[in-house]
Amino acid sequence: MQAWIAPSILSADFSRLGEEIEAVLAAGADIIHFDVMDNHYVPNLTIGPLVLESLRKAGIDCFIDVHLMVKPVDRLIGDFLDAGANLISVHPESTEHLHRTLSLIRDGGAQAGIVFNPATPLHALDEAIGLVDLVLIMSVNPGFGGQGFIPESLDKLRRVRRRIDESGREIRLEVDGGIKAGNIADAARAGADTFVAGSAIFGADDYAATIAAMRAALDLAHGV
Ligand code: DX5
Ligand code: ZN
Repeated sequence: MQAWIAPSILSADFSRLGEEIEAVLAAGADIIHFDVMDNHYVPNLTIGPLVLESLRKAGIDCFIDVHLMVKPVDRLIGDFLDAGANLISVHPESTEHLHRTLSLIRDGGAQAGIVFNPATPLHALDEAIGLVDLVLIMSVNPGFGGQGFIPESLDKLRRVRRRIDESGREIRLEVDGGIKAGNIADAARAGADTFVAGSAIFGADDYAATIAAMRAALDLAHGV
């Protein structure tokens, strides 16, 4: 599977969000990661479906990966589908009925993702692996950009990689939190193929150079 670099707009300049997205796409990003926080499931508050809808209306047509950190989550899924999400990821802790939530996403025509926090066991994968297009491993506790990568996440990535391979399904393995050019190769070797990076990209002066450095590290990890 082709590696995807997914800038998280959490660290973008929100007063110029559309321009920031165009800039990272022009700089070589593959998709955009859209973090939604509710000050309830996580201790921070960000943006909702109206912002996604505005971006779509402004002509932003790239693949948008919506990471929902909200509880309860089901009621917002239709809004994000209507707003133009390509993929919607949910945390098992944010819903009473994970099967229903994942089905709402898939029946609405988007891809579905399941997200595991650093201390959340992978049990939900037993029953849900057949219903997801992406597994997202949090390598920080969700809520804020700019935190340090939790090294135990590498082992978790390896375990999920094995389970995805055993399933025989086409499922992306995404990692989110503390990813930068200096550690992206470790995550790739552990099996990740989709790399969220917020502060490392939007905090840099030169987006293209930063994404190119990440891509070079990935090529090295893959032996290209
Ligand atoms: C954290 C968010 C991340 C965040 C990553 O809760 O889910 O997507 O933006 O930011 P960095 O890359 O700065 O750790
Ligand atoms: Zn995220």
